[in-house]
Amino acid sequence: MTESKKDKKGPASEAPKNDRRRKFLLAAAGGIGVAWAGAAAYPVYRYLAPQPVPDPFGEEGKAPVDKITPADVANPGMGKNGGYAARGIIVLRKQDGELKAFDSKCTHAGCNVQFQGNVIHCNCHGGEYNLDGVNISGPPPKPLTELRVFEENGVLYVSPLEPEQKG
Ligand code: FES
Repeated sequence: MTESKKDKKGPASEAPKNDRRRKFLLAAAGGIGVAWAGAAAYPVYRYLAPQPVPDPFGEEGKAPVDKITPADVANPGMGKNGGYAARGIIVLRKQDGELKAFDSKCTHAGCNVQFQGNVIHCNCHGGEYNLDGVNISGPPPKPLTELRVFEENGVLYVSPLEPEQKG
């Protein structure tokens, strides 16, 4: 009699227990899945999320010019491509003696423009700028970004152009 009672009670009382176990395992598997998806997606998010652009002029508000010395632009008509803060730059001295500097990123599609004596030329699509950085032919839609250039202790530096110096 005891045995038959056990037989009848056994499977009936196991059913809710199995349901709870099944629900627990499903919830645990779901939690692990969510955690795994989050761990896999986070690096992708970090890669695709826009990063803050560092200020090329830093706290001092100026950046040294690489590969161009004051002697390279000492006389009218001289000019050269160089760099600043991991970007390209052109420094040139106009015929009237004025020293000019431009970020060398073309305003059309971002190619590196080249100083060519009496014009600044873009090899990508043939765009041209005059020595004031103004777009004069080809597809560039606007002038080059002009920078303030100056010499300190035999080194050329650039800084952002003040609003009153623009244009
Ligand atoms: S990128 Fe310079 S003309 Fe197109």
